[in-house]
Amino acid sequence: MANTVLVTGGAGYIGSHACVELLQAGYQVVVVDNLVNSKIESLKRIQEITGKPLAFYQVDIRDHDALADVFAKESITSVIHFAGLKAVGESCEQPLMYYHNNVYGTMVLLAVMAEANVKQLVFSSSATVYGTNSEIQYTEDLPLGAVNPYGRTKAMIEDMLRDLSAADALKSTGSPWKIALLRYFNPIGAHGSGKIGEDPNGIPNNLMPYVAQVAIGKLVQLSVFGDDYPTPDGTGIRDYIHVVDLVKGHVKAIEALNGEKFASGGCKAYNLGAGKGCSVLEIISTFEKITGRKVNYRIAPRRAGDLAEYFADPSLALKELNWKVEKTLEDMVADTWNWQVKNPQGYN
Ligand code: NAD
Ligand code: UD1
Repeated sequence: MANTVLVTGGAGYIGSHACVELLQAGYQVVVVDNLVNSKIESLKRIQEITGKPLAFYQVDIRDHDALADVFAKESITSVIHFAGLKAVGESCEQPLMYYHNNVYGTMVLLAVMAEANVKQLVFSSSATVYGTNSEIQYTEDLPLGAVNPYGRTKAMIEDMLRDLSAADALKSTGSPWKIALLRYFNPIGAHGSGKIGEDPNGIPNNLMPYVAQVAIGKLVQLSVFGDDYPTPDGTGIRDYIHVVDLVKGHVKAIEALNGEKFASGGCKAYNLGAGKGCSVLEIISTFEKITGRKVNYRIAPRRAGDLAEYFADPSLALKELNWKVEKTLEDMVADTWNWQVKNPQGYN
């Protein structure tokens, strides 16, 4: 029988792409999502793309009993935990909502997993846990120091998971936790079919969906946040990663948790990024080249909290998960545009 993966937040942007990849790799998929930032339509599209069914429960991960019911009904072998709130600005305005949803929600999930004796977990972490570092290429052993409430929820969850795994060493019985902390850099792009993609509520916070909405005429102008950074063209540099490459890293992580490396348990962090940076102006020019559309922009002041430049060292993921990116920036732009053109109003 195929392994069954519970995907929390599976109706969301990254989770929906992960469901496609898991189904295509032969896993059974169970989605838990409260739809606070997603639409049920994405789940229908996953099934259209793959021609395979998945099980869906509209459940909040903070609801212990409802979550325990899902574990009682389904033969879950591992969990990929995407469910969470992710807007940095909103987390500064409503920190308790973020701690309650992300940190407390994860505590409930872990308690239910322990009760059901399901101890394989892949967690959606973020490069944001590194905070401000003097290095610009991040390796997993750099000091952590998130600088906003959203980032701190990720850092706290990472701490909690490391503690949980360390506690196994003090026990003589029971199966150990096997945990992969995947630190994403900047996921962009969409599935090549154009059926699923990023569908932000209201005005996007992140660069790529903003650029796409300017190019299609939904938004008037992009503000480029700062052109006086110490980078070659003065604009911020990030490591953009195609969402399909990113979710393939999750399938590799599940395989690794089932393999030799994690045979006696453990909790390990992996960077998922391309390993190279790209500036805001490069994103704009690539977008214009691929789509033939003009991206109207102006130079604006720097955005508070932004760093000039950072990108991943993804060599550990290559060595231990046998994963690396395959897609180019051109692919990321072309797939974003394909999704945007086919779904100008997102899933609505
Ligand atoms: P998303 O908002 O599209 O997906 C998150 C999903 O979780 C949504 O479908 C939402 O409805 C669901 N959810 C939220 N709280 C829930 C709860 N309490 N119970 C049940 N479901 C809940 O976001 P995404 O971009 O797909 O991100 C997925 C994960 O990856 C998040 O944890 C996010 O913090 C992390 N991450 C995202 C990025 C990025 O750039 N998108 C970068 C780094 C890390
Ligand atoms: C942001 C979050 C980060 C989160 C990540 C993925 C902040 C400070 N950081 O990262 O915690 O993990 O998203 O969700 O919000 N830019 C513009 N104009 C725009 C938008 C962005 O010039 O309208 C620039 C930014 O200054 C940055 C780059 O584009 O240089 C990428 O920005 P964005 O897509 O928001 O991602 P991050 O800031 O890297």
